[in-house]
Amino acid sequence: MSRLLEVDDLRVRYGKVHALHGVSLRVERGTIVTVIGPNGAGKTTLLGAVMGLLASSGTIRYDGADIGALPVESRVAAGLCLVPERRELFGELTVEDNLRLGAFQRVRRGERGAANELGEVYARFPRLKERRAQLAATLSGGERQMLALGRALMAKPRLLMLDEPSLGLAPRIVRDILRIIAELRETGVSILLVEQNARAALGIADRGYVLETGEVVLSGSAAELAGNPRVAESYLGLAGDRDQGTGDRAQKNPKPETRGQERVK
Ligand SMILES: Nc1ncnc2c1ncn2[C@@H]1O[C@H](COP(=O)(O)OP(=O)(O)OP(=O)(O)O)[C@@H](O)[C@H]1O
Ligand SMILES: [Mg+2]
Repeated sequence: MSRLLEVDDLRVRYGKVHALHGVSLRVERGTIVTVIGPNGAGKTTLLGAVMGLLASSGTIRYDGADIGALPVESRVAAGLCLVPERRELFGELTVEDNLRLGAFQRVRRGERGAANELGEVYARFPRLKERRAQLAATLSGGERQMLALGRALMAKPRLLMLDEPSLGLAPRIVRDILRIIAELRETGVSILLVEQNARAALGIADRGYVLETGEVVLSGSAAELAGNPRVAESYLGLAGDRDQGTGDRAQKNPKPETRGQERVK
């Protein structure tokens, strides 16, 4: 079966607020699927529900099995991995200790060779190797995103879910990070990539979904979406490029308290 993730009619509410009303999407194995959409569309909520962090209704099938009732730990054990928007690094620990923690669940499950990935991660991110003894809190934004990705890879995920990996990064670093994400697909990992930077995301994705106010309003191949006039107008113009700092969508629903920040514990 080539389909790794199959979400149908997913609904999530926060009290009276309905954040997702019946979202359906598919991730085929070895592909990158992006979910684009403005602030407050429900992108983070979608990832949280798939990961099991939020209660939801509807069905979530992963690798052929309904995982909707499984706790987060079981989903992690099955190969789901979420890199949240706030990268959730341990600032007082070194780069290497943060990476080792990424394999912690595998070590606890008694998997052999869980620490061997360290070499692979360092090969993919030479910058992290250089900075292995540095405290995570002192890394630059781009390095922190690399560390968050590296730590996720230490868990040997099969479905890697990334929440706005380009957030707050300079355009050149965004390109580096997205190139690395595109390379990860070659290793067989499937990726669900949430982004407001639609141009960058559609540039590496195989397929995409446009989420607006909790609903999928468009879906298709990344090329189809990039060529869609509605997507072009709403998401690929200047307004869609937050690196330019002039996004009008950002003004519609700014959530200034959360944007551009990362939580370092
Ligand atoms: N813990 C919460 N309690 C109440 N409402 C919430 C909570 N988290 C999110 N929401 C609301 O649910 C909706 C979807 O939020 P979500 O964070 O999923 O959007 P998003 O697409 O990730 O936005 P952004 O691009 O700003 O990260 C928003 O209206 C938001 O205000
Ligand atoms: Mg979000």
